[in-house]
Amino acid sequence: MRTLIKNAHVVFPSGVAAVNVLIEGHRIAAIEPAVHTMADETVDAAGLHLLPGVIDDQVHFREPGLTHKEDLFTASRACAKGGVTTFLEMPNTIPNATTQELLNAKLALAAEKSLVNYGFYIGATPHNLAELKRATNTPGIKIFIGSSTGDLLVDDQDALERIFAETTLPITAHCEDEATVRANAQRYRGIADVAVHSKIRDVTAATIATKRAIDLAVRHRHRFHVLHVSTGDETDILGDYFAGNGEYAGVGDDPARRVITAEACPHHLLLNIDDYPRLGTLAQMNPSLKSADDNRRIWDALRDGRIQVIATDHAPHTLEEKQKPYPQSPSGMPIVENSLALMLNEVHRGRCSLEQVVQWMCDAPARIWDIVDKGRIQEGYDADLVLVDLHRRHTIRNNEQLTKCGWSAWDGVELVGLPVRTWVRGQEVYRDGRTDDNVRGAGAQFDHARGGYWASV
Ligand code: DOR
Repeated sequence: MRTLIKNAHVVFPSGVAAVNVLIEGHRIAAIEPAVHTMADETVDAAGLHLLPGVIDDQVHFREPGLTHKEDLFTASRACAKGGVTTFLEMPNTIPNATTQELLNAKLALAAEKSLVNYGFYIGATPHNLAELKRATNTPGIKIFIGSSTGDLLVDDQDALERIFAETTLPITAHCEDEATVRANAQRYRGIADVAVHSKIRDVTAATIATKRAIDLAVRHRHRFHVLHVSTGDETDILGDYFAGNGEYAGVGDDPARRVITAEACPHHLLLNIDDYPRLGTLAQMNPSLKSADDNRRIWDALRDGRIQVIATDHAPHTLEEKQKPYPQSPSGMPIVENSLALMLNEVHRGRCSLEQVVQWMCDAPARIWDIVDKGRIQEGYDADLVLVDLHRRHTIRNNEQLTKCGWSAWDGVELVGLPVRTWVRGQEVYRDGRTDDNVRGAGAQFDHARGGYWASV
């Protein structure tokens, strides 16, 4: 099957160019092929921009075990609609993905159900070092240094030292200090106003844990990715680290060469504690929302390269669960289907460029997680592509969400800029409001045996 995408403005790492792109099978066969090139299908993309598909390196898709909230089919449809062509999923499912056998079971489920490419982290416990050492077909190890949703937690220093010393896979972590969170929870117990969540999971909790994890990674020279930076103070810690290690060369530096990389989420860029009165427990997240000043400092860190990636931490819970009184209400919100649109709206508002969005959401995660042949529009690369309309005005509506939980913290919000068509490995999976549910299994899996290659299954 050959598809010719004509007249699009194509976003390359070096800038935007009006060229044609030819897809053949699952690859980008040629860039700027002659317009008369024979193709089975020709897409006239005049007025649209063609981007590499988004790689979301932090999602919670709930299968197995919590499929009343989300499952791999519904989540992957939400991805396809949102322009996300690859996801890396977290291990706090039930059972927790802490062994090769359990990872393999998730891979088998995704092979049947997912419309997009997938990978699954292995979860660390204080007792599964042997599993972490031999794990394969996984992008890396996830440690909850502070607990969040579920019961995964490694807080013991000796256990952490051994994981960083003895394993070889990249490590990523949820950084909120358990002791600080517990002491704060004691101090504020009995308060039912959800705004207290940001006092319990406070700036100190985030900075203590992020410092601790970076210290472990640096001492053991172990590749480490800081998840969901939520505070300006953590961006200072990252700045100090990069400055002290001569690694901080700003935007454009190859993130794959770094020991430490970091990620920001749309909610920590676009929402803050002033949103609690409007959103209530819908705004309850771990790490918690912080101040408007923290938003600003996280934006600054993205722009100057201290943070390299935007991912969502998509964490679906049903509305019924979210509407329980605090603190029975669970933490997390669904974002994967709107993350690219939210960032395109930021381009429209002039807060960042389209090239930066592609760098943060496509290119950098591919380099950091060693995802070969993805994240860029380049001849020979996989045809994971998304067409976006930068001028399309649209309003996010709960009743139009494809995520099983069926809500968004941005319900009723008007945005400018929308993904309109998505291809995964050359196969169209989404077009103008509709996913092609016949292409379940279109995605490919993380195949560690082939050096991080994404193999067809
Ligand atoms: O708010 C959150 N929810 N943060 C996490 O780290 C986990 C997530 C979930 O799985 O619900």
